[in-house]
Amino acid sequence: MIKKYDIAVIGASGLVGQKVIEMLFTRKFPLDKLYLFAGAESEGTQIYAGGKIYTIKQTNINDFPNCHFVFMCVNNELSSIFSPILSRKNCIVIDNSSRWRMDREVPLVVPEINAEEIRGQKLIANPNCSTVQLVNALYPLSRKYGIKRIVISSYQSVSGAGYEGLNDLMYSRNKPVAFKKPIISNLIPQIDEFDESGYSLEELKIMRETNKIMKSNIAITSTAVRVPVYYAHGESVNIELSSEFDIRDVISEMQRFENLIVSQDDKTYFTNIDAVGHDQVFVSRIRRDNTVKNGLNMWIVADNIRKGAATNAVQIAETIISQKEQFYEFI
Ligand SMILES: NC(=O)c1ccc[n+]([C@@H]2O[C@H](COP(=O)([O-])OP(=O)(O)OC[C@H]3O[C@@H](n4cnc5c(N)ncnc54)[C@H](OP(=O)(O)O)[C@@H]3O)[C@@H](O)[C@H]2O)c1
Repeated sequence: MIKKYDIAVIGASGLVGQKVIEMLFTRKFPLDKLYLFAGAESEGTQIYAGGKIYTIKQTNINDFPNCHFVFMCVNNELSSIFSPILSRKNCIVIDNSSRWRMDREVPLVVPEINAEEIRGQKLIANPNCSTVQLVNALYPLSRKYGIKRIVISSYQSVSGAGYEGLNDLMYSRNKPVAFKKPIISNLIPQIDEFDESGYSLEELKIMRETNKIMKSNIAITSTAVRVPVYYAHGESVNIELSSEFDIRDVISEMQRFENLIVSQDDKTYFTNIDAVGHDQVFVSRIRRDNTVKNGLNMWIVADNIRKGAATNAVQIAETIISQKEQFYEFI
């Protein structure tokens, strides 16, 4: 008989939490009990999933059910408090916030790339949505050619800022809640706060997380822009490979990689709408950049809530189950 697992989702009323619940059923995760938690505002909210009605409870970390996996879909401050407590209790915590991503003790995982790093850890970080789609596209090239430098400009949808971001665009708020300026008819070159270097934290996340996941030392510079689009992020990426390449080989190398949909020619391209509702990363406009040695340009799009967050998190849990005999006998 297939073993089934008890799961808790904290932040179950949020964009990522809701999608995690949907993905557990869509991917036929071996689920036994499902517990849903959020803040005081969502106490009592009912969610219909997998043919049943579940009621969200306010999170009380001191009175938390025993479960095998906890999907943490809340902000950094809450994850700082909840994740260590729950991972000490034999729960495996998969955290969507950026709180633990650069912690040396915590694996930062995209299962297609570095599943082996999970190895018995009980707190695993899910990368930033923009990072997930970037590393999926770059990894096959990094393996074959090596990468020296990347210039990435990301065009990020409002759902990247959760429900408040969606509402700012949906209600054309003149006084936005999630953003510093109105998002309607606008492009905002700021995602998260700026640090003393002038980069935004979102830009730094993409730069640092990419090298951690790929165990590389690529020179990366990044600009992150919020755009008035509901779902999916686009990325214009300029890459300097470490060795010479034939453009047809680049395309076939990427086509062979799991979960990548790659355009065959230089006229067909993918947009946000093509990516929404899918778990694959879409790559197009692949072309040589003749201004540098071994230069390459491409356009990458993916659904930020699915592969960029919920799907990758559920894939991490599936990977852990596949490593059960070796590392996770306690679940
Ligand atoms: N959106 C994306 O594209 C994306 C991608 C990757 C990672 N992430 C990260 O994933 C996390 C969730 O993002 P989101 O977009 O889903 O945000 P969201 O839509 O704003 O949802 C936030 C969730 O946190 C809950 N919450 C608030 N206070 C709480 C408390 N005291 N105890 C327990 N739960 C509480 C909210 O519940 P109430 O409804 O009760 O307030 C809600 O369920 C964030 O760390 C975000 O950075 C987001």
